[in-house]
Amino acid sequence: MPDGLYIGVLSGTSVDAVDAVLARWSPRLEVLASHSRPYPEELRAEVLALAVPGQDGVDRVGAADVGVGRCFAQAVRELLERAGLPPTAVRAIGSHGQTIRHRPGGAAPFTWQIGDPNIIATVAGIPVVADFRRKDLALGGQGAPLVPAFHAATFRSAGQARCLVNLGGIANVTVLPADPAAPVFGFDTGPGNTLLDAWCRRQTGERMDRDGRWAASGRPIPALLAELLADPYFARPTPKSTGPEYFSSGWLQARLDRHPGAAAADVQATLVGLTAGSIAAAVRPWCDGAGAALYLCGGGARNPELRRALAAVLPGTPVAATEALGVPVDLVEALAFAWLARQHVLGRPGNLPAVTGAARPAVLGGYYPAE
Ligand SMILES: Nc1ncnc2c1ncn2[C@@H]1O[C@H](COP(=O)(O)OP(=O)(O)O)[C@@H](O)[C@H]1O
Ligand SMILES: [Mg+2]
Repeated sequence: MPDGLYIGVLSGTSVDAVDAVLARWSPRLEVLASHSRPYPEELRAEVLALAVPGQDGVDRVGAADVGVGRCFAQAVRELLERAGLPPTAVRAIGSHGQTIRHRPGGAAPFTWQIGDPNIIATVAGIPVVADFRRKDLALGGQGAPLVPAFHAATFRSAGQARCLVNLGGIANVTVLPADPAAPVFGFDTGPGNTLLDAWCRRQTGERMDRDGRWAASGRPIPALLAELLADPYFARPTPKSTGPEYFSSGWLQARLDRHPGAAAADVQATLVGLTAGSIAAAVRPWCDGAGAALYLCGGGARNPELRRALAAVLPGTPVAATEALGVPVDLVEALAFAWLARQHVLGRPGNLPAVTGAARPAVLGGYYPAE
């Protein structure tokens, strides 16, 4: 294979300019072109400011990146131990990392997942594919949700229209029409468990409302539910994605301020209604129209109150868990990232432009060799 041309590009600690060079080794080093592009003044000032340790959180992000990387690596090692397999048996790890910020809108759209893949690759001794979302973002997409492509590859059926509903912190749906020619699509519907967890933690100190028991002890407040569901996110056209930085405790509190005296358990019940209601609004055209069945996955699928609320707002629609399709609810998302790693290794796209809004299908992620 002929050795090609290579470009190197960097800016050093002087933060003066971006230096780029085009070269080849054939076999002797030959410089073909070079270029130096000054930073815009504003960007330079920002970079310089970020380079000074202070109250900006950069050191915390750096340390957490390492901590999450080590934790992911340990999880992989324990998984292999459980499987009784050596690292060499595994072609690649797909690591989603831990999202600390998702801001796909605005002038500088970004999404940030931490958990250094280099640490995972070297500790586990297995190549890692990571950073799945940002290629999609670079192509004008939301970078999320990414699971619909996996849902389509795994759960689509010509015999039944299906809506996959992933009840994570944020909930997302994938619509899988029975007609193989009809496009698959999906989007984040809004909060899944994030507000349920946050409100429960704040009011009871518990990390989650296990089995929705606390919510079941309250009654939804219709006026509050209507106000929550009136948030413009729910009516926004797709593609769209969101995160707990938007549907935050602050978001909830601002609305609760207009409902003084609401009992805490009733608020929890209302939040169950919010998750169910926003999902129902999103899938109703396919359930009522195309007779789609709902399949739930993610941790929220373990919450009987959420399941009950969904069934109640979608009468006539069969609601089951992905177990019915042969995949445990807790494994769907991790399987999606194993599948995305495989797509990368095989040189295949991982995104669905109809879902994310990216300009085209693309091979997602960066590859981090183990050697
Ligand atoms: N038995 C249960 N009862 C109620 N909620 C549950 C139960 N099991 C899991 N959950 C919810 O599922 C969440 C975890 O779901 P998960 O799919 O892992 O979300 P993410 O993908 O955002 O990490 C928990 O925070 C909790 O809200
Ligand atoms: Mg989780």
